[in-house]
Amino acid sequence: MGQKNGIEKTWWKESVVYQIYPRSYQDSNKDGIGDLQGIIKRLPYLQWLGVDVIWLSPIYKSPNDDNGYDISEYRDIMTEFGTMEDFDLLLTEAHKHDLKIMLDLVVNHSSDEHAWFVESRKSTDNPYRDYYIWREGKEGKEPNNWGGSFGGSAWKYDEATNMYFLHTFSPKQPDLNWDNPVLRDEVFKMMSWWLDKGVDGFRMDVINMISKVPGLPDGNQEGRLYGDFTPYVMNGPHVHEYLQEMNQKVLSKYDVITVGEAPAVTVEEAKQYVGFDSGELNMVFEFEHMCVDEGQYGKWTKLPLDLVKLKEILTKWQTGLDGIGWNSLYWNNHDQPRIVSRWGNDGEYHNKSAKMLGTCLHMMQGTPYIYQGEEIGMTNVDFTSIDQFRDIECLNQYDDFVNKIGMDKEEAFARIKKSSRDNARTPMQWDSSVNGGFSEGAPWIEVNPNYTDINVEAQKEDKNSILHFYKNLIKYRKDHEIVVYGSYELLLADDPNVFAYKRSLGEQTLYVLCNFTDQSVDVEIPGYEEDKNQLVIHNDTEWTKGTLRPYEARVYLV
Ligand code: GLC
Ligand code: CA
Repeated sequence: MGQKNGIEKTWWKESVVYQIYPRSYQDSNKDGIGDLQGIIKRLPYLQWLGVDVIWLSPIYKSPNDDNGYDISEYRDIMTEFGTMEDFDLLLTEAHKHDLKIMLDLVVNHSSDEHAWFVESRKSTDNPYRDYYIWREGKEGKEPNNWGGSFGGSAWKYDEATNMYFLHTFSPKQPDLNWDNPVLRDEVFKMMSWWLDKGVDGFRMDVINMISKVPGLPDGNQEGRLYGDFTPYVMNGPHVHEYLQEMNQKVLSKYDVITVGEAPAVTVEEAKQYVGFDSGELNMVFEFEHMCVDEGQYGKWTKLPLDLVKLKEILTKWQTGLDGIGWNSLYWNNHDQPRIVSRWGNDGEYHNKSAKMLGTCLHMMQGTPYIYQGEEIGMTNVDFTSIDQFRDIECLNQYDDFVNKIGMDKEEAFARIKKSSRDNARTPMQWDSSVNGGFSEGAPWIEVNPNYTDINVEAQKEDKNSILHFYKNLIKYRKDHEIVVYGSYELLLADDPNVFAYKRSLGEQTLYVLCNFTDQSVDVEIPGYEEDKNQLVIHNDTEWTKGTLRPYEARVYLV
């Protein structure tokens, strides 16, 4: 495809990815659980929207301790979602609609119900023993002080062999031992099996956690219930070696898209993961920008947004990887509360702020990811009772807050409500019929009652809707190489209200101005005199030179 701005042109750099959380997308058989046939039914919608790739959160056989992120059979489909025939049909139909399919690869851990683990726990000399990470206890206690990501210790005692196994997530998600070459080959074979079927790539779950520091040293426990494993698990000693091996043995043989989820990754580290010459991955999901509003209780504290800090972080990623590697661009996924409620405004300025956030993200350099419902501005949920939550992470956290830390229940509930992953997991809002058109049965998690106002059908009919705006953002990227390959430069770095930047490609410049507040603010762009004739994207009906109205977003092409 040639080069542009010193960057090799590839289809995945020019793509927009749409993430589906299958459990909550579309139910086809009235059991209240989304499924593969449901997704097939919605393919024409996705083609109409203009996205290129669908990332499916896990669809494999699973006991659903963590909604499919605990896999018990990598070559089979979750019973509730359908059959392998349904999957094959989905793949064929997607391709017919010009949509590629990217699977979620969850190989830092499996389910404890996976046959490998069932064998592994039987005896110390079982052939599968070294597929997992087993250690002796220390003075009758866990092998080290690490806490699991979903609360409690990261170790579980197993009677059969009187030893502990490591689980960095729930006890039903034992960590696989990537230091074992036999395990690595099993994973690589499984990946090739799916790629040979015709899938177009992988999103790799917590892939930067697969190599643990030998000796598994205790983590820092200051002010915490358990020690922090981060320095000994994230970006470990052999992670690049293993990813290069994966690339040589599998990925390099196919023309695929890859993105690795990488909590706690820095730009410097990312250059190795996604460098154009590294032979590892296309992109990573970094977390720095998503953590900018964290406080005392980590993600369970949401501080007001510090826009200057957010700009600094995103700019560091934009300029740090320019010409060296490729960025992913995201505000939302199945683990994050809804962006319009978080950094926009889900009341009076719902429409405008959702469009502003979309503009700000989609005009940057990188591959944008849209999470289901983001394109209609789906919001957080006004949960009123702990019984409405389903997610293991937030339920365990609530328990820790109340029973271990002694926080009062109201405060604990308020924290869960704001940050729970369930905010993102309520059913897709298709229309104003019962359950938002998601299911005629009782949904596994309640539909957000605002589906009567916020839904696809209503927005499809309204040219001024968030949905049409997203469709245009996608189209604009397709029609303008500057959006894909142009270089990025931050403007007005110290402005606490406006996110402004420019993109440059050859003779062309794109100016992007986004007001992140509910107030009117004055702006002056250095080096450019605002000209209404050059306005190419705008989320408002009025235009005043030098002033942005609440949540106004403008893009000028010069
Ligand atoms: C990733 C997934 C998350 C899951 C966890 C364990 O962070 O995005 O949903 O719970 O890994 O697999
Ligand atoms: Ca179903």
